[in-house]
Amino acid sequence: MDQSGDLTVRRIGRLLTMAGDPVAEAAVVVRDGRVAWTGPDRELPPDAPAVELDAAGACVVPGFVDAHTHLLFAGGRREEFVARLAGTSYDGGGIRTTVVATAAASDAELLDLGADRAAAALAHGTTTMEVKTGYGLTVDSELRLLRLVGELADRTPVRLEPTYLGAHVVPAGRDRNDYVDEVVATLPAAAAAGARWADVFCDQGVFTVDEARRILTAARAAGLGLRLHAEEIAHTGAAGLAAELGCASADHLEHVSAEDARAMAAAGVVAVLLPTVTLSLRSNAWGHPSVLREAGVELALATDCNPGTSWCESMPYAVQLACLAMGLSVAEAFRAATLGAAHSLRRDDVGHLGVGASGDLAVLDAEHEADVVAHLGGRPVTATVVGGRVAFST
Ligand code: NIG
Ligand code: FE
Repeated sequence: MDQSGDLTVRRIGRLLTMAGDPVAEAAVVVRDGRVAWTGPDRELPPDAPAVELDAAGACVVPGFVDAHTHLLFAGGRREEFVARLAGTSYDGGGIRTTVVATAAASDAELLDLGADRAAAALAHGTTTMEVKTGYGLTVDSELRLLRLVGELADRTPVRLEPTYLGAHVVPAGRDRNDYVDEVVATLPAAAAAGARWADVFCDQGVFTVDEARRILTAARAAGLGLRLHAEEIAHTGAAGLAAELGCASADHLEHVSAEDARAMAAAGVVAVLLPTVTLSLRSNAWGHPSVLREAGVELALATDCNPGTSWCESMPYAVQLACLAMGLSVAEAFRAATLGAAHSLRRDDVGHLGVGASGDLAVLDAEHEADVVAHLGGRPVTATVVGGRVAFST
C-alpha cells in the first residue's frame, strides 16, 4: 500500500519522538511519507503541508511496532482455553489444531481474517508488524502462508515483516529428523517467497537447542535474519543459543537465567517480552524482565497474536500488562513497544519520529501516555497515521 503522504499533525499536547525529550504543545510535519520536522507548534515551518490532523491536545507517540505475531490462522482454540482455566498447562500441542483449521480455510478466507486482525491492530496504534508462518507445516502450506503475507501487505497499510516458522511444532505423523531436514531444505524457497526472518519454537517438548542451531545456521546461509522462541515453557538453553548465534531477538524468556541474560546483552540480542502470553498461560512468571534489565538487555514488546496463547491485537494492552504485571516503567514500556521493537527487527526507519523516519504515529486518547496505562479497558487510540496518511480514526 502507498505510504507516502504529506501531513501536518498539529495541537499535540505531548509528543514522544523516542529520538529526544518529550515536546509539549508540538507539531509533526510528514512529507512524502517521512518525518520532515518536529517541534513546538508555534514554530511550525510556513511551508508545512496544508493537509492537517488536529490532535486536540492529545499525546502522540510513534506507531507501535509489534515484533512478534502469528497473524495468519483460521479457527479458534476454545476447548484448550477452557481446559487451561480448569488447570491444564500449555504444551504447544494445540498448534496442530490450528494447522488443521488453517489448511481447511481458502486463501480468501485467510486473507480476510488476516486483514481484519491487521485492522484491529491499526486501530490500536500498530503501524509495523512481524508476521510468522507456522500453521502450515508442509512445504507447500508454509510457502502458501508466506505468499498470503505478501498479499496481505496489499490489503493493509501496516508494514509487515514476514518470518518463516516452519519449525513451529513437529507435524502429527512426521518423523522429527525428517521434518527438521525438510525445514532446512525449505529455507531458500522461504527467502525467495518473501521471508525476511526465520524463527524456531525452541522449547521443552518442541524443538531442541541442537535442532534450532541447525535450522538457524542454515537460515543465515539462506540470507534470513534470525529470531527465536526461547525459554517460554521451561529453561532449555534457547536464550544461550540466541546469544551464540547473534539472533536479532529472543522472544518470551519467562525462564531465562541471569547468565543467559548477560550473554544476550553481550551479543546484542533484543528480548521480546510477550506479557499477554504470560497472562493467558496463567504461568505467573512475571520476573524475567528485571533479570533482563539488570543484565542490560534491550527490551521490546509484542502481542504474539495467535489463537492458542495470546488472542490479542492490542499493543496498548501489552504495554499495560508490561507495566502493571511485569514492573516496567511507563517510559520503558513505550520505548519497548516502539524503538526497542524496531531494533529487534533491525529497522532504524520505524519506532521513532526523528527526522527521516517513517511518518508513522498514534494519537492517544489521553493527554499523557501514563493515562493509557492506567485506563484499563479504555479506547487507547483515536487516530493512527502510516507514512503520513491517516489510516485509522475514530
Ligand atoms: O508464541 N510459542 C509458540 N508459538 C505461539 C503459540 C502458538 C500456538 O499455541 O498456537 C507462542 O506462544
Ligand atoms: Fe509466538
